[in-house]
Amino acid sequence: PTTLRVSEAVSGAGLDTNIKVQGWVRSVRPQKTHLFLHVNDGSSLQPLQIVASSELNNPSLTFGCAVEVTGTLKRSPHQKQPVELEAHQIQVVGECDPVDFPFKIKERHSLEYLRQFPHLRCRTNAFSSLLRVRSEATTAIQSYFKKNGFVQIHTPVITSNDCEGAGELFQVEPSSPESNEDENFFSVPAFLTVSGQLHLEVMSGALSKVFTFGPTFRAENSQSRRHLAEFYMVEAEVSFTESLEDLTKVVEDVFRSATEHVLAHCPEDVDLFHKHVTPGHRETVDSMMKKRFPMISYTEAIDILNRSSEKFAFPTNWGCDLQTEHEKYLVKHCGNIPVFVTDYPYDLKPFYARDNQDHPEHTAAAVDLLVPGVGELCGGSLREERLDLLRARLEEAGLEETYSWYLDLRRFGSVPHGGFGLGFERYLQCILGVENIKDVIPFPRFSHSCLL
Ligand code: 4AD
Ligand code: MG
Repeated sequence: PTTLRVSEAVSGAGLDTNIKVQGWVRSVRPQKTHLFLHVNDGSSLQPLQIVASSELNNPSLTFGCAVEVTGTLKRSPHQKQPVELEAHQIQVVGECDPVDFPFKIKERHSLEYLRQFPHLRCRTNAFSSLLRVRSEATTAIQSYFKKNGFVQIHTPVITSNDCEGAGELFQVEPSSPESNEDENFFSVPAFLTVSGQLHLEVMSGALSKVFTFGPTFRAENSQSRRHLAEFYMVEAEVSFTESLEDLTKVVEDVFRSATEHVLAHCPEDVDLFHKHVTPGHRETVDSMMKKRFPMISYTEAIDILNRSSEKFAFPTNWGCDLQTEHEKYLVKHCGNIPVFVTDYPYDLKPFYARDNQDHPEHTAAAVDLLVPGVGELCGGSLREERLDLLRARLEEAGLEETYSWYLDLRRFGSVPHGGFGLGFERYLQCILGVENIKDVIPFPRFSHSCLL
């Protein structure tokens, strides 16, 4: 027999022939003369129905066990599934004790419950669907950049710079230093990267349009529903860019093309979330896809917040950082669709942000994208390409020497450029309607938790 993936068999490949499938049992329904099983191998949400004579039943055939089934693939007489496998042979490859197995047949476990079993939760429908969506979204994002002339750069995980200057670094040292204990392994302090931006800026100085998509790390002592210590970031950098609109167009296009791809390529997986996890979320996604994302300035945003009758835990005034509660309010105010907020106070932004010298208030050409349910999804800016201004700001921060190589980029063929970083897990939260970021990454890392 030919071995088929369950997704192939379900879609009718190998109809009326002898085939073999391998997977895990998702349901067992013994009846008088026949035994009905559902088997899934993770290739799609839909399981394959197996029909066997009761003689093929045996006590180790339980929910969760691994099986290999051979038989003839037939068109099904039932509406529910297009095909079924008439089994000649069922072999239990690996048993699964139903008493100890943490998931029970026919029970819908909460995402919070599943989180206790990072090594087993992929066996559930919800988490396999999430993983397939995550994989498709990754493909879609990479192909967007490829289609639009960006070169993918593998930025380093270990680095000696703190791009964001927020001091949220994890330091990297060998677990058992061999020689001189006072000396750093790399001779300088080294850290896990918080962002690949500065490395991308190097490359955009030759390749013009570049992107990276990899893990980034922040020692954020936060138990929030949108922060992780390790998360994936999509970052792009574009040379010869003079306006924030050039950047926001790329951000919006990435968002739309990835979302369209996911809705088209894994509709059942997305539906599982939209129907069972966050009922009604589909309307939110549809309305996000219908309208262009509006753009307001930080100053307008503060006016909106100041005028609102909402009681915020953090009061607002010009110059304050926007908190999650403010971001969520602004999204609602704009019709519950993503909104770009531009031109933040200069002092709130890192050294690389471009000074808006022509504005009445002292602002930087920076932009955030705020989205329903999550708040900040993406942050970007034009970068300060003018040598004198950049040097002055680095000098002020005592960083001129550390970033002498960064100043070189402005000395040798500097061009106006800009870029952004989009949090991949927050993107998944936004399109699936998942409240907690820990439920959209295979193995979440956060303070006091590094299971497995
Ligand atoms: O706003 P951030 O800190 O921007 C940067 O790091 C820039 N250097 C990116 C760039 O311009 N190339 O982070 C970008 C995005 C945030 O908007 C958020 O979506 C996500 O990364 N993010 C996190 N996601 C999960 N857990 C965390 N701790 C995150 N911190 C940031
Ligand atoms: Mg930010």
